This record gives sequence, C-alpha cells and structure tokens, in this order.
Amino acid sequence: MRVFITGGTGLIGSAVVAELLGNGHTVLALARSDASALAAEAAGAEPLRGGLADLDVLRAGVAAADGVIHLAFANDFSSPEAVAKAVAEEGAALATLGEELIGSDRPLVTCSGTPFVPGRASTEADLVPTEGPVAGRGRAVTAVLGLAARGVRSTAVRLPRTVHNQGTGGFAGLLTVIARQTRVSGYPGDGAQRWPAVHALDAAVLFRLALEQAEPGTSWHAVADEGDPVRDIAAVIGRRLGVPAESVPAETYGPLGPIFAADQPATAVLTRQALGWEPKHPSLLEDLENIQP
Ligand SMILES: NC(=O)c1ccc[n+]([C@@H]2O[C@H](COP(=O)([O-])OP(=O)(O)OC[C@H]3O[C@@H](n4cnc5c(N)ncnc54)[C@H](OP(=O)(O)O)[C@@H]3O)[C@@H](O)[C@H]2O)c1
Repeated sequence: MRVFITGGTGLIGSAVVAELLGNGHTVLALARSDASALAAEAAGAEPLRGGLADLDVLRAGVAAADGVIHLAFANDFSSPEAVAKAVAEEGAALATLGEELIGSDRPLVTCSGTPFVPGRASTEADLVPTEGPVAGRGRAVTAVLGLAARGVRSTAVRLPRTVHNQGTGGFAGLLTVIARQTRVSGYPGDGAQRWPAVHALDAAVLFRLALEQAEPGTSWHAVADEGDPVRDIAAVIGRRLGVPAESVPAETYGPLGPIFAADQPATAVLTRQALGWEPKHPSLLEDLENIQP
C-alpha cells in the first residue's frame, strides 16, 4: 500500500514508517520543515512539504495514497491556550483527511488516547473522553470513526500515557524533563495512580496491523504495560538522574495536572485477540534504565 502519514518524523511516527517500509508498503510523509523532509527521506519515505494547517497539502497527500495514518500533533502543553490551539489545528486537519476519503473504502488510522474509567482498567469498548483539557481530540476522533458509515475504513489506535523508546517519550518523558530542570523526580499525590505504557516499536506494529486489517469504525489499544504506579516510574527516573523522588503539587504540571493525578490503567485483551498483536519490546520501567544523567 502507498501510505500517507502525518507525524512520520516523530517518536512514534518514525517507528511506524520503519514498520511500514519493512513490510512492503511505501510511504509519503508530511514534512513541515527542511529538517523534517531530510529526516523522512533518510528513513526511506518520500516527503510532502507542508504542515497540519495546510489543508490543500493534506488533500494532495490523501489523493496520492491508498491509506492514511495520522500522528502529527503539536504536543505543546505549556498553557491551556497552547493546548487549545494544537487541538483545534489537529481537529481541522483530521476532518480534512476524513472528508477526502469519503466513499473510497480506503483506511484512515488515527491515534487517540486510552480512556480512563474510575475503578477499573479501560478496554477498547469504553468511549474516549469528551470532557477535560484534550476533549477536542476525543471529539475529532469520534467524528472520524463515524465516517465508517460513509465509505471510510476509519480506525483509531489508542495510545497509553507513555509511548517510549530509549527511555524517552510520553508522560514519563515529561516527568524526566521536569526532574532534570527542578532536580526533583516528582509525582502528584501519593503516586499510587497507574499509567499504562507501550514501546514505540510495538505500537508501530499495531498501526500497521490496523491499517491492513481493521474493520471500519473500530478502536484498538496499544497497551503493553497495563499500569505502572507513577511513584515507581518517578523512582527509576530519580535513581537514573541522581535526584530524590517525591510528591509535588499537581499544579506543577499545568494543564496536565488533573490527567497526571488520575489512576488510568488500560488493557489490550481484545486487540491482542482480534489483530494478533503481541508486544515484545522492553517495558517502560526497563526502558527508563536508558536515561542518562
Ligand atoms: N509519545 C507518547 O507517549 C504519546 C502518548 C499518547 C498519545 N500520543 C500521541 O501520538 C502522536 C505522536 O506522538 P509522538 O510522541 O510521536 O510525538 P512527537 O515525537 O512530538 O512527534 C510529533 C510529530 O508531529 C509532527 N508535527 C507536529 N506539529 C505539526 C504540524 N503543525 N504540522 C506538521 N507536522 C507536525 C512533528 O513534525 P516535526 O518532526 O517537524 O517536528 C512530528 O513528526 C501525537 O498525537 C501524540 O499526542 C503520544
């Protein structure tokens, strides 16, 4: 398949590009800068110059492809305004990708987040949140899944709080960045809240399987570790950096504070059964041992 990908130069996207190329697909990668275009080319993809806000470029990318994978996101959590801007930009881009595919039966694989359900691990059958700081992302994904009724083989790969590679990435990666800055490996509350995780190389396999096999309108969980207590994550980060691990106020994490404080384990039982996905790369706690002081 010729696959158009957004975010193909990111932590997850670069693993997805390698996975696609290694399994007989070719890749057209959205690239918003010269550096990104060079990176895409070096990885073996053909770059398509433009950003998420260049809707005509997105349409051209879809027109040239047999399937689409969407991963680009600004990932700017510095303020509520920055989050809202990133969510709005992504929502418009995703809607454009979906509209261009209507009636074609071609696949559109978008990323989403694993939901959190009070008192138990979330499953593929639970709905993504439509309230909270990133609710707009949930609404955009839900709209794309609704295009299943209009001739789009739309599907969502829900990612856990940390998608990691070589000790970096996701929420655990943010904890590491903050720990380097503040010289404290912090966590909100008592740290008993659990976050799920997956290695980027394992998540990449699931994106490929969803592209190739998923039924329209379905959601999947790229979850390898169902939930590590955040204080265990912070303990490894603290030990690797030589700084103390301790509880800090949730406000330390700005707009992400309430999300960081929530217990949100998730499972991937249905995903493993239905798509034959079997994660095999290191767990988060193992991978964090790659952090260098
Ligand atoms: N890593 C995680 O733990 C995790 C967990 C849950 C969900 N996710 C989601 O998974 C997706 C990918 O995450 P990631 O960790 O791979 O992110 P990342 O490493 O920050 O990569 C982001 C990618 O998006 C591209 N991008 C950002 N803004 C863009 C724009 N305006 N126009 C065009 N391209 C743009 C970047 O391009 P450049 O190379 O040019 O910067 C890069 O390829 C995101 O939606 C993220 O929210 C990630």
